[in-house]
Amino acid sequence: MEIDQTEFRLWARYVYDISGILLEPAKSYLIESRLGPLLREYACRTFGDLYQKSRMDSTRAVEKRIIDQITTNETLFFRDSAPFEMLKYKILPDVVDRKTQKAFSSRPISLRIWSAGCSTGQEVYSIAIALKEILVDLNKYSVMVLGTDISGMAIARASQGTYSQFEMDRGLTSERMEQYFIHEGDVWKIKDEIRAMTTFKKMNLMQPFVGLGKFDIIFCRNVAIYFTIEDRKKLFRHIEDVLAADGYLIIGSTESLTGIALQFEPKRYLRSVFYQLKKKENC
Ligand SMILES: C[S@@+](CC[C@H](N)C(=O)[O-])C[C@H]1O[C@@H](n2cnc3c(N)ncnc32)[C@H](O)[C@@H]1O
Repeated sequence: MEIDQTEFRLWARYVYDISGILLEPAKSYLIESRLGPLLREYACRTFGDLYQKSRMDSTRAVEKRIIDQITTNETLFFRDSAPFEMLKYKILPDVVDRKTQKAFSSRPISLRIWSAGCSTGQEVYSIAIALKEILVDLNKYSVMVLGTDISGMAIARASQGTYSQFEMDRGLTSERMEQYFIHEGDVWKIKDEIRAMTTFKKMNLMQPFVGLGKFDIIFCRNVAIYFTIEDRKKLFRHIEDVLAADGYLIIGSTESLTGIALQFEPKRYLRSVFYQLKKKENC
């Protein structure tokens, strides 16, 4: 079923209101292909019926399904590889060094990392595996890797930590598969030692961040690309508020903060870039 330009404008506005995701007119096929299956699921004849059903649904169950369907959840383990090398060999050693100097020797060192827009969890588990590989004795640390996403379906899958062979083959060596996952039938399940470092939560990045605390490292990769320039600026202002003063921000390898977030300064490490907050001048 096809939608016309008037219907598209209505849907584009609605998708924007519930998710912040910007749909250009050239993307009207996304409404047709991704929301088409919901017509049958909710016994709707037309996209107009589905729109009305969602607006009238006080439980917001239809809205949640629309978000699950319209979001692009493409991800893979150790995506782009270089940022994870940077995490292991530059960022984590720096953070740990700094915190060790400040810490009382008997207390575990706290490490708080956030993957904002984590999709089905591969980014979160890649971070947790990198932590395990570089920190070795995890007992000395109090680690939390938080994964958040607007899609309830993606977060449920992330939390389950179970992946098909196809998903495993995208980014994991056979050594890492054997070391950090258990092969159960035709799926692989993340081992408890890695899962224990992680927490997942459904969260819309377009809404105020409540009760998150401060993070040492934030990954916000391949998410802001779906937002308007104004919304990207707002997102990175909110990220600034939850990033520790000496914290590290990592964005997607094809993304840039130029003209979006002047409060962040890019710093290069080998083939990657990380961002830190500019030091505030004393006046
Ligand atoms: C392409 S995936 C990127 C996943 C991962 N960060 C990576 O780089 O592999 C983008 C994710 O952003 C999520 N997303 C889109 N809009 C969002 C919003 N307003 N709040 C939170 N997550 C959002 C989508 O659900 C999707 O899972």
